[in-house]
Amino acid sequence: MPSRTINILGATGSVGQCAADVVAKNPDRFSVQTVTAHGNTRKLAETAIRLKARKAVLCDRKEEAILRELLKGTEIEIGIGPDSLLESSCSAVDVTLAAIAGLAGLDSVLNALRHSRVVAIANKEPLVAAGPLVMQTARQSGCTLLPVDSEHNAIFQVLDTKNLQSVENLILTASGGPFLNREISELEHVTPAQAVAHPNWSMGAKISVDSATMMNKALEIIEAHYLFDMPGEKIKVLIHPQSVVHSMVEYTDGSVLAQMGASDMRTPLSHALAWPERLPTPGQKLTLNTMKHLTFSEPDPVRFPALKLAYVCLENGPEACIALNAANEAAVEAFLAEKISFYDIVGTVEYIVTQALGSETPMASNSLDDIKKIDGRIRALTQDYISKNPRRRTVAG
Ligand SMILES: NC(=O)c1ccc[n+]([C@@H]2O[C@H](COP(=O)([O-])OP(=O)(O)OC[C@H]3O[C@@H](n4cnc5c(N)ncnc54)[C@H](OP(=O)(O)O)[C@@H]3O)[C@@H](O)[C@H]2O)c1
Repeated sequence: MPSRTINILGATGSVGQCAADVVAKNPDRFSVQTVTAHGNTRKLAETAIRLKARKAVLCDRKEEAILRELLKGTEIEIGIGPDSLLESSCSAVDVTLAAIAGLAGLDSVLNALRHSRVVAIANKEPLVAAGPLVMQTARQSGCTLLPVDSEHNAIFQVLDTKNLQSVENLILTASGGPFLNREISELEHVTPAQAVAHPNWSMGAKISVDSATMMNKALEIIEAHYLFDMPGEKIKVLIHPQSVVHSMVEYTDGSVLAQMGASDMRTPLSHALAWPERLPTPGQKLTLNTMKHLTFSEPDPVRFPALKLAYVCLENGPEACIALNAANEAAVEAFLAEKISFYDIVGTVEYIVTQALGSETPMASNSLDDIKKIDGRIRALTQDYISKNPRRRTVAG
C-alpha cells in the first residue's frame, strides 16, 4: 500500500489514540497531516510529535501559549480555534478519520466528505442527526465513507452490497453495558464513575454512558439505517455480553455472516484506514480457544427503553432523529454534571422526543442551517426541562 496522507480529527480521544497506535505501527503507510483536539493540549502535542504530524490544531484558544511552548523546537505548524479545525477538515487528504465526539463534529465531517478521498467515520452523532445530508454529501463528492464503529465496520465487512435484496436482517450486537444484570431498581443510584466503567471497551465518557443506557445501540440502529440504506424493521439488536461477534448479516437463504475480533477499536480502525487492503494491527488478537461460550439474547425492552425510541424516530423521519440525538447529548451532559440521575437520562430523552413529535412547530428540512436550528432548540428545551425537574431520583437515593 503506498503511503496515504491522513487527518485525524479528535486525535486526543479514545478512538483518536487507537488510530494513533495503528498509524505508529505502520509508519511507511501513513503521512500524518493534521491532528486536532478540543482542549487536551498536552496529549495533542504528544500525539503530533509521536506521529510526526505536519500540523496540530487546538480548538480552545485559552491554551495557545501552552501548545506553542510544548511544540517549541519542532517544525509542527500550529492552528488555533474552531476555524482552524474547519480549515484543516477542508484539506485534500487521502483519508480523514472523523473521531470528534458528538454533533460538534458535523461541520468537519461535511468538509472532509467534500475534500477527502476517504472518510473513516467513528463520529456517529452526525450520521444520526444529519444522516440524509451526510450521505448526500458523500454521494455528490464521490468520497468513500467507511464505518469505524465496530458494529458497522463488521457489517461493512460481511455485507454483500451487490445482493442487498437478499439481506433479511442486519443484526447489531450489544454487550449490554455495565448494568446488564443489575436490578432495575438499583439503577437510580448509579454514579457517573460507575456508568463510564464499561466491562469490555475503553471509551470516551459520552459513549460509555450511552452504552450503559443502551442509547448507544439506539443511535447505532439509526446509523446503520443511513449507512446501509436499510429500513428500521430489518435492523435487529441482540445482547452478546462477550463482545466477540461485532455484528452479523442474515441472508434470505438462512446464511448468517458474522465478523469477530477482540474488543479493541484498533481492529476496525486498521480495517477502515487501510481498506481495501489489510494492515497488521497493534491491537489484541482474538483467542477463540480460551472462550467457553458465546451467548446471544433478545434485549429486555423494560430495562432498555432507548431501543424502541430509535425505531419510533426512524418511523417519524430525520427531524425526530435530530431531536433524539440533541436531547440525549444534553441529558448525558446533565448526568455527568450530576444534575440528573442515571435513571432519568432515557426518561428525559423520551419526554423531549415525545414533545417534539407532538409539536405544532414545523421541524422540516435537510439543510445544515435547519438541522442546527432544530438541534439548538431541542437542547434548550432539554436543559430547561432538566432545570425544572432536577435529580428526580437522586444519586444518594
Ligand atoms: N471510544 C470508542 O470506542 C468508540 C467506538 C465507536 C464509535 N465511537 C464514536 O467516536 C466518537 C469519539 O468517541 P471517543 O470515545 O473517542 O470520544 P472522546 O474520547 O471523548 O474523544 C473525543 C475527541 O473529540 C475532541 N472534541 C470533543 N469536543 C470537541 C469539539 N467541540 N470540537 C472539537 N473537538 C472536540 C476531543 O478533544 P479533547 O480531548 O481535547 O477534549 C477528543 O479528541 C464518538 O462519536 C463516539 O460515539 C467511539
